[in-house]
Amino acid sequence: MIIEPKIRGFLCTTAHPLGCAAGVEEQIRHVRGKGPIRSGARKALIIGSSTGYGLASRVAAAFGCGAGTLGVAFERPSERGRTASPGWYQSRAFGEAATKAGLYHKNIFGDAFSEEVKTETIQALRELGPVDLFIYSLAAPRRTHPVTGAVYRSTLKPIGASYTNKTLDFNTGVVSPVTLDAATPEEVEHTIRVMGGEDWEMWVDRLARENLLASGALTIAYSYIGPEVTRPVYRNGTIGAAKDHLEKTARRLEEKLAKIGGHAFVSVNKALVTQASSAIPYMPLYISILYKVMKQKGLHEGCIEQMDRLFRDRLYAGGPIPVDAERRIRVDDLEVRPDVQAEVQRRWEAVTTENLAQQADRAGYHSDFLRLFGFGIPDADYAADVPDDRV
Ligand code: NAI
Repeated sequence: MIIEPKIRGFLCTTAHPLGCAAGVEEQIRHVRGKGPIRSGARKALIIGSSTGYGLASRVAAAFGCGAGTLGVAFERPSERGRTASPGWYQSRAFGEAATKAGLYHKNIFGDAFSEEVKTETIQALRELGPVDLFIYSLAAPRRTHPVTGAVYRSTLKPIGASYTNKTLDFNTGVVSPVTLDAATPEEVEHTIRVMGGEDWEMWVDRLARENLLASGALTIAYSYIGPEVTRPVYRNGTIGAAKDHLEKTARRLEEKLAKIGGHAFVSVNKALVTQASSAIPYMPLYISILYKVMKQKGLHEGCIEQMDRLFRDRLYAGGPIPVDAERRIRVDDLEVRPDVQAEVQRRWEAVTTENLAQQADRAGYHSDFLRLFGFGIPDADYAADVPDDRV
């Protein structure tokens, strides 16, 4: 079977197994190239382990620290001529590389918000043993509450007033204004329920109750702050309200984990092209401009560079973990550098459809978008027939 990208809006409905595998290999090479991370995690549980920041965290834990990993993600295998989801191929490729390296690994595919998947994970952890690292890297559009059965849907809207700014259709290259209506209080509450800290806390409580957190265990969830131009819709919007809740949850978990000498942190990461971020209004334009500026300054990083730095220079650098005044770990430090942000702002004001190629790195954005689905990766042979048992 020859597999080609089929793009529909901010989704690609096909994924390339060989390309996805080559992308995972690239990440492994990056981490290995930096050498072992001494005194790092030994056993790690990663929720949202199949793509984006969760996959990169898993690669850093396994191939940097030498940890056994259990990954939980929402992915599907191929069926009736339809390719599997990219996260499914990436999880398979991760597993094959981990086996070769003699590292424990297991995947659980299902809804991490559910009691069933938590129970299945607990059973699997009895095989691996208590974890010293628990990464929570979930990005989901909806959540069924495991106790009440209520269904919550997250939205990406400003709070208080509508907001208008430029946006980029990254398929056509058209820059045009878009207005987002203000969220209702119910939409704010829903987004907090999906992307806030409630489920993270449920996981930590459950793991603690089952004695599956090792003494001194670390748990980390991921957050974002970003620039002025996305503030009304991101940090001051519905998703930002959820991130505030996540950050508050970290403080509560820190107290709960004191008993076992453990710690809970939020790490603020850089804006990058992932399946989650390509759906956020204004983000594709901001990221395209940010890429242009950071690449010109030699500061650009992808998920694996970010997570390698988080593990190597923050979590396991040997001393106390460095945090900001709000007790957050920052690996978005290069993104928020004043010279970077001043240049991004200048370009944001100037950018139009006509000058997009000069002001922004749309090609870089587009190529990263295709890479999410395993396309355009140098080591993959796209002309080769993919055997049925690899689709
Ligand atoms: P992503 O879309 O690449 O990954 C999401 C992961 O969650 C995947 O492994 C997916 O299978 C899993 N997932 C989704 N729903 C699930 C469910 N119901 N049950 C089990 N697994 C489920 O997203 P990305 O961007 O890596 O996001 C991860 C975290 O990083 C999020 O909290 C996000 O807000 C944060 N972050 C992302 C930034 C970005 O620019 N992409 C920047 C800073 C933070």
